[in-house]
Amino acid sequence: MKADLLDHFERRVRYTETRTTTPRGFPDFPIINPSRYYDPRYYDLEQKHVFRKSWLLAGHRDQLPQPSCYKTFKHAGPPVILFHGSDGEIRAFYNVCRHRGAVIATKEFGKSRTIACGYHSWVYDNKGELVSIREQRDFPDLDFKCFSLVPIRCEMLGGMIFINFDDDAPSLKDWFGPAYDDFLGEYAFDLTTVIHHTVWNAPCNWKLLIEGGVENYHGQSIHKKTLAFGRQDQGVISLYANGSSRDAFLQAKAKDEAALGGFVREAEGGVAEDRRPRNPRISEFSSEHNFFYNIFPNMNFGTFTPVGFATSCYWPTGLGTSNQEFYIFGYGDGAPHRELWDRDIKQARDVLAEDLDFIGRVQEGITSSPGVKLGFQESRIYHLNEALDAKIGIENVPPELRIEPVIGPEWIYPNDIPLYEAEMARVEGAAR
Ligand code: FES
Ligand SMILES: [Fe+2]
Repeated sequence: MKADLLDHFERRVRYTETRTTTPRGFPDFPIINPSRYYDPRYYDLEQKHVFRKSWLLAGHRDQLPQPSCYKTFKHAGPPVILFHGSDGEIRAFYNVCRHRGAVIATKEFGKSRTIACGYHSWVYDNKGELVSIREQRDFPDLDFKCFSLVPIRCEMLGGMIFINFDDDAPSLKDWFGPAYDDFLGEYAFDLTTVIHHTVWNAPCNWKLLIEGGVENYHGQSIHKKTLAFGRQDQGVISLYANGSSRDAFLQAKAKDEAALGGFVREAEGGVAEDRRPRNPRISEFSSEHNFFYNIFPNMNFGTFTPVGFATSCYWPTGLGTSNQEFYIFGYGDGAPHRELWDRDIKQARDVLAEDLDFIGRVQEGITSSPGVKLGFQESRIYHLNEALDAKIGIENVPPELRIEPVIGPEWIYPNDIPLYEAEMARVEGAAR
């Protein structure tokens, strides 16, 4: 976080703890049509306009560390292969043979200088170029250069590998907005290592799943036992342009450690035995606060301690089913500290299990709901849904499925800062 914003954020944290209503002028959210969660037309629009045109987390450099290592990836829809080329560059391709369209690599992870399609043995190298075909005499004029694997846009953000099926999409940096500098700066994505990677199935539309990840209003209901949530229900919310957002709150103190397990800062007799490598660039402010970023459309990054952070991607697998792909990232050589990571992973699994256990009840009920009503703490959900309609193109959304845009540009970070400053001055003035 930029130094000149620290003071503002410190005061915002205190303001959110004590506020008795929503900020003056902040919109009341209109009812959302629940069909957005179960109408196949909206699902198809999301697939076509959102998931085929957005930057999506496909993996981490650790998962294909050397030249010729590859990773296949199907969560985004089309089959994808990430291939570490002999020139050191990581590229993404459709994992689809240029002969008759078969999926080529079938293992999730592998290492091979070339890869052969199983059907008629066309062979591609680790830069995606077609290098040999069987019985070439039958293809006398075939120009191999025209039959390389089809590339997909691929950009790195530190160790993270992002793909985008849309050649016309903005750069990753523009897409991430203010979060980009945070991630490459004090969150040091360039120094990250993969500690844990798993995928859970969820019995609900992907939006219900991610929406549980962008509000903390449910924390005191569902996670009472697993998380002494401290002040998570009073987070400092920042809405970013294009649908992304962030929530920040003061981390629980060491006295809450018993309930928080590893998710607590090392302070006041905290996790004294924790010798895991720390993020060397994190500021004091950021190590005392938890930050939850939502990057449009389907990623959450949650920082928990100076030793690492958790990431979830939410993938639609059908109208009423989805996957939650969960990573924990550490820094440097974090792998040897297995018992501490295992403790954190168990804690995260326990918390996420509570979400997954519940979420089927929302899916079950929502088809009979007359409408969804969101409150201030759920602003990031409304913001995400406004952005989904915008990305789809409002003219493409059937009128009855649209969400009414009510969040004006004045509430988009950093335009919101003077509004909150005025609000805090007003509240302080009234208290005097
Ligand atoms: S489909 Fe791949 S070689 Fe024929
Ligand atoms: Fe939750």
